[in-house]
This record gives sequence, structure tokens and C-alpha cells, in this order.
Amino acid sequence: MRRKRLRQHLNPLKLTALVPRAPLTLPSGRPIDVELGCADARCLIELARRHPERHFVGLDIREAFLAEGRERVAALNLSNCQLEVCNLLIDTPHLFANAKISRFLINFPDPWFKRRQRARRWFNERCLADLVAALKPEGRLIWQSDVWELTLEAMGILEANGQLTNCAGAWRFLREPPLAAQTTRELICLDKQLKIWRLAYQRG
Ligand SMILES: C[S@@+](CC[C@H](N)C(=O)[O-])C[C@H]1O[C@@H](n2cnc3c(N)ncnc32)[C@H](O)[C@@H]1O
Repeated sequence: MRRKRLRQHLNPLKLTALVPRAPLTLPSGRPIDVELGCADARCLIELARRHPERHFVGLDIREAFLAEGRERVAALNLSNCQLEVCNLLIDTPHLFANAKISRFLINFPDPWFKRRQRARRWFNERCLADLVAALKPEGRLIWQSDVWELTLEAMGILEANGQLTNCAGAWRFLREPPLAAQTTRELICLDKQLKIWRLAYQRG
């Protein structure tokens, strides 16, 4: 059967995307890693297979991408990986409630290059403040992208946050990939030999 081709992007400012979600139901007593904009969650699922002692949460605005990931989670019988739909533009203040997150993973977020589309970018100072509030002490935020301008802008926001420390030293990039698995977009970049910019920040 031919699969319907999925549209690449969904406008996060569309009225139907602006319905706030309830806080996530998360397990206690285990480290929790969250990927923001996980799409098919390829990387997260691989990490969940390798680390049954941790819990992994993938968030994306595209239900159809998550459905693909959920099929794979079910086929692998993974109980430590949950994939949830949300709109990161509006949901970060309440999604994590009182949970304490060990790592936030931001892997290849949509660049929304055009000036009129800039407001669709979810990563900004306000969102970062929500993420830092949900991070455990010494919890980490990982950023990976092949888009230099976007990374530089994110780095400015991250460096300006008084509660985070750059693990590689101020204004420096990681030399090695921070995760033991690759995302779908990362594999495409590696195949095309595109440069990937990687950052890691720690709370405290
Ligand atoms: C370029 S893809 C990268 C996917 C994956 N992290 C990877 O590296 O393969 C960016 C993802 O972010 C999701 N996304 C964009 N804006 C979002 C938003 N406001 N809320 C939640 N997810 C969003 C998109 O649906 C898309 O799946």
C-alpha cells in the first residue's frame, strides 16, 4: 500500500494548534529525558532500548509523525518511551508540572527562515525559562542543528540565561555528538556531509 506523503511543516500559530494540553503524566523515581520536536522519535526509541533504567518522552506537534514512532514503540514492547502531541509555542509553561527532567534534547528544530514565519519558532527566552524551571539541578539541555544562524541565535539565548553553564566553556561547541543514537534529520545531514553544530548546557 502506498503511504500518504506527510506535509513537512504545520503552522503552530494555526487556531487548531493553539489548544493547551494537560500536564504530562510522568513516572517518578527514574531519570526522565525529553526530546522537544521529536518527529518519528528514531533517536529517542534507540536510547529507550539501550537504557531501560531511564524514561524517555518525545513531544511533537505532528500527530502523524508520532503515530509512526508509537508503532515502533509498541513493536519493540518498550514501556519506557512515551510520545505525546503538544505545541511547544504554548505548552512549555504547564507540561512538566512538578516533574524534574534530567535532559531536554533539542534536535534539529525547524528553522522557519522567512521573516514573516519567525514567530513560529518555539525556542526563545520565555520557553527556555520554562525548561530551566523544569530541569533537575545539574540537568542538561542539548542542542543540535545544521543551521548556523539558528544555532548562533539559540546560543545567545542560552549563554544569557543566568542559571545555565556551557559544558564546553562559554560560547564553545561540543566536539563530539552528545547522544549515543542519531535522529532521522541527523542521519540525513551526515549523509549529505553537512556541518552539525552541537551544544550542551548544565543547570547550576
Ligand atoms: C526538522 S524536524 C526534526 C525532528 C527530529 N528531532 C530529528 O532530528 O529528526 C523538527 C520537528 O519539530 C516539530 N515542531 C515544530 N514546531 C513545533 C511546535 N511548535 N511544537 C511541537 N513540535 C514542533 C516538527 O513537527 C518536526 O517534527
